Amino acid sequence: MRHLYTDAKLVTMASDIHNSDGYQCQDHSAIAVENGKIVALGQDAEQLDWPKQSLNGRLVTPGLIDSHTHLVFAGNRADEFEQRLNGVPYQTIAEQGGGILSTVQATRAASDAELLALALPRAEALMRDGVTTIEIKSGYGLTLDDELKMLRVAKAIEQHLPVNVSTTLLAAHAIPPEYQHDADHYIAHICQSIIPAAAEQQLADAVDVFCENIAFSVDQAEKIYAAANAHGLNIKAHTEQLSDLGGSVAAAKAGAYSVDHIEYLSEADTQILAEFGTVATLLPGAFYFLRETQIPPIEALREHHVPMALATDFNPGTSPFASLTLMMNMASTLFGLTPKENLYGVTRHAAQALGLTNKGQIAVGFDADFAVWQCDTPAELSYMVGTAPLVGRVVNGIWYPA
Ligand code: NIG
Ligand code: FE
Repeated sequence: MRHLYTDAKLVTMASDIHNSDGYQCQDHSAIAVENGKIVALGQDAEQLDWPKQSLNGRLVTPGLIDSHTHLVFAGNRADEFEQRLNGVPYQTIAEQGGGILSTVQATRAASDAELLALALPRAEALMRDGVTTIEIKSGYGLTLDDELKMLRVAKAIEQHLPVNVSTTLLAAHAIPPEYQHDADHYIAHICQSIIPAAAEQQLADAVDVFCENIAFSVDQAEKIYAAANAHGLNIKAHTEQLSDLGGSVAAAKAGAYSVDHIEYLSEADTQILAEFGTVATLLPGAFYFLRETQIPPIEALREHHVPMALATDFNPGTSPFASLTLMMNMASTLFGLTPKENLYGVTRHAAQALGLTNKGQIAVGFDADFAVWQCDTPAELSYMVGTAPLVGRVVNGIWYPA
């Protein structure tokens, strides 16, 4: 299948954030697509006598990538939100068996079909914001069968909607009630049974761990990383969200593609992320919703050239927000990221956080995933919220109007 998209105002993200000045927009450019891949750009593309579609001079960015979500779950936690506003901390709710474990109960009780029906509109909400790839984690099952069920549902979204899905096994999200005083045995079960099964059934691209006082220790996380590496799965980690345990450094040393949250990461440790090429994923929705005050070490990350990704962390407990452009706005207002850093964070750097070497840029050889916007400048994407300036998305080469 061949197609030529003409008259695009291209924002390619094809150069390193530190090598480019400005957005390097290319006006009136063309993109040639063959079998879901970008095969030519600009004048090379215009020469081709292929079926054409004009993009009418509109702004075109790589399709946005939400590189961290928990969007498969049942139930909601509005009651917990209310409890928190009456003064009960997130940690206390979790310690009393609420929090993540309340979503685990609801998710275990739901069938594949029920979970899918709940997940599809959430994915569609992200797509309305120009998202063409979504990472989705398990982590509300915490048994072999329920974790695999969540991953199956996440993968099924790709069969129902025009969006790419990357799946992550997060069995080490919370200590399940069955192992309440025996976290080490749960870790052994994850390493010996759940990771091998997810790998064998090709249900997960990566493995994640919630490394925190209310979840798993650095030592326990390292066991998970070893098992993930042994089964050829990528590593990602929730680290330094509520305290500084040194989890980010341990994850980076194990080869993690990204460490996520990192409000409590020390400035000194940002250099280690740089050494290991680990992406720092910022999740301003969770920061905002938990009314956190500790800001991630943004200046040190910049100084050491650590790529920063930006994601929704969409989940019922800490970030009930299905909008990546809202996160771009929050990253600027709460963390001081520039609109350009935001756009790298939801395209090129987000692809890097998932190890997707063919996504996140508009360049020859890359997947033909892009978003077409009704706006004049890329900064507008971080600026106005809720007006849905999306005109349409191209996913694997095919046009889907908004
Ligand atoms: O990314 N930090 C741990 N996991 C999620 C929260 C999940 C939940 O509270 O249900 C997060 O914030
Ligand atoms: Fe998360």
